[in-house]
Amino acid sequence: MKNKTVWANRLKGKTSLSFQKIGSSINADKRLYEQDIAASIVHTKMLVKQKIIGKKEGSKIINGLKKIKSQIDKGKFKFQEKFEDIHLNIEKKLFELIGPSAGFLHTARSRNDQVVTDFKLWIKKSSKETIANINSLMKILIKKAEKNIDTVMPGLTHLKNAQPISFAHYLLSYFEMLKRDKKKFENNIKLLDECPLGSAALAGTSYKIDRNYTSRQLGFKKPTDNSIDSVADRDFAVDFLYASALCAMHLSRLAEDFIIFNSNAFNLISFDDSILTGSSIMPQKKNPDPAELIRGRVGLNYGNLNSMLTIMKGLPMSYFKDLQDDKKLVFDGFDTLNDSLVLSLELVSSMKPNKKNMLKMANEGFTTATDFADYLVKEKKLTFRESYAVAAKLVNYAEKKNKLLSELSLQEIMKIYKNLDKNVLKIFDVNNSMNSKKSYGGTSTANVKSMIKKYKKEVE
Ligand code: ARG
Repeated sequence: MKNKTVWANRLKGKTSLSFQKIGSSINADKRLYEQDIAASIVHTKMLVKQKIIGKKEGSKIINGLKKIKSQIDKGKFKFQEKFEDIHLNIEKKLFELIGPSAGFLHTARSRNDQVVTDFKLWIKKSSKETIANINSLMKILIKKAEKNIDTVMPGLTHLKNAQPISFAHYLLSYFEMLKRDKKKFENNIKLLDECPLGSAALAGTSYKIDRNYTSRQLGFKKPTDNSIDSVADRDFAVDFLYASALCAMHLSRLAEDFIIFNSNAFNLISFDDSILTGSSIMPQKKNPDPAELIRGRVGLNYGNLNSMLTIMKGLPMSYFKDLQDDKKLVFDGFDTLNDSLVLSLELVSSMKPNKKNMLKMANEGFTTATDFADYLVKEKKLTFRESYAVAAKLVNYAEKKNKLLSELSLQEIMKIYKNLDKNVLKIFDVNNSMNSKKSYGGTSTANVKSMIKKYKKEVE
């Protein structure tokens, strides 16, 4: 019996070795062992409570399961492909440890409800871990932002200099993205919070089980309502992979910004040597490899999501082996995203702005042209379209003279628009420009300061 599969009496002869290797999921789903054992213990307690199995058998099973957990914890458990997955590996071991009493454990359940229960528990735990990592990154962003409220940088659109902004305001734009990511994972947890255990193969069971009890004991809000959907549903895996892909995409954008800002052409930020690599041939190089890994690896997260959606497409009711590969995708999605979160944290904390270059670049590209147009609207009662045309002429003039807007004299400006005095000159100061953006959510230092106050409470 020891070496036989549970279905050995039905299936004649030996299993094909290649199918055994390719068809087993143990190498991936061994990561579910804690959840599997926790769910089995709760299931056993329920069977005893409902008098479906005896007390003595129940405690034998529970002790055996606890022993198995400690063996796995210590790395002393031998996982075997021939027993296919984590559920049957544990069941087989239980027989080895406690003998025939192990046979009572699988009463009133199937691997179909078992696997989905374990998987939901794992995703819940891992979503919480991901949320904690996102939160740490949000905290670092606040810390960096606090030191750079007055740091003026060129805000870019189309990668062309647009308007002067606070570097803190720029950093906090990523805080907002991560805040939404965090909420998505939190919402996902709420959505998956129904326990499938007790749905058995797909029809439910004729035993008088207590699904409210098992659900409560495992920390779910309630049992699932439909036994067929319970074993067929993997929406929660798709949700997890979507939230992961989206978060990885946000990190990829931050990484790309940092790569551009760190380039020799921009030279706006630098990193600590501890996270850079050199070149095997070019002695001068300091390359921002972590940022490049983050930028690229979002591809893996997209791949996982796309694979999961494709596996689900057209899958008839209810459980099919197709679903076995869901774990690999989710585990990989989790690992990839959390590696990227850790790397992002290191990148942000070791990043130093080159304030001089930021200021210089904020002055280039006529970034205060909009401020001049706004000045004419407010002070000279022009319509915005009229003032826009005047400001464009001023930009053309400065470009021809190869001057910054702030280098133009009052006389030069008055060649373009007569009715002006020296007050207009302060409009071309990039600090004034930044601080004039006092609209809610704008880049003025006053705004940024009050946002930081608000954000600090949100990440506590
Ligand atoms: N290893 C399987 C999986 O991960 C467990 C469920 C098996 N159920 C079945 N009817 N073959 O999906």
